[in-house]
Amino acid sequence: MEIPALKEISLSVKEGEHISIMGPSGSGKTTFLNILGCLDKPTSGKYFLDNIEVSSLTDDELSEIRNKKVGFVFQTYNLIPQLTVLENIGLPLFYSGFDEATVREKSLQLAEIVGLKDRINHRPSELSGGQQQRVAIARALANDPVIILADEPTGNLDSKTGEEIMELLVSLNKKGRTLIVVTHDTKIASYGKRIIQMLDGRIINED
Ligand SMILES: Nc1ncnc2c1ncn2[C@@H]1O[C@H](COP(=O)(O)OP(=O)(O)O)[C@@H](O)[C@H]1O
Ligand SMILES: [Mg+2]
Repeated sequence: MEIPALKEISLSVKEGEHISIMGPSGSGKTTFLNILGCLDKPTSGKYFLDNIEVSSLTDDELSEIRNKKVGFVFQTYNLIPQLTVLENIGLPLFYSGFDEATVREKSLQLAEIVGLKDRINHRPSELSGGQQQRVAIARALANDPVIILADEPTGNLDSKTGEEIMELLVSLNKKGRTLIVVTHDTKIASYGKRIIQMLDGRIINED
């Protein structure tokens, strides 16, 4: 049986915007974010990312666009436990084919941006949740994406650490990067300039 996860969604996002998406569990937030991030394709309708109509691309083309244009941040960080902080940050650069020295140099710069320069040789298990999310944010920035998509990025963090992570994301947005944050938390959502409410696969409200 097919269950439509999204229905009649229409949204236009300008470069540099910061948008929050709220809504109860199962309302389609993650599905929507995955389409915006080219992890999923809509079964119907069109999606333009940076003037490219991505809904008609092949899976290979889609993953190339995703690698170049999208930075993803997840609730559970999704770091690779065997790799160090620096190696986790550099993974997308490695996949993009940069040589070892460039990967290292760029990864160091990213570690500095997220405030983890003194932790580059640690493994994720040796870091706090907030530090792990900083690694994930640095990794998301590696290929200089046009858009950062964060799915409940503070969901596993205490409120103070969550706010610190939001301040980091907001500072990146202020440098011009489009930011879309899915959250249950009204305080986290209030950092956004637009707050979109979803229910049963639809956008029901924007304030
Ligand atoms: N991989 C999947 N297979 C089948 N149904 C799914 C899948 N992922 C999500 N869904 C369904 O799509 C709807 C939206 O889910 P989701 O986007 O994860 O919502 P949210 O992130 O708001 O909790 C839900 O009804 C969910 O059960
Ligand atoms: Mg979700």
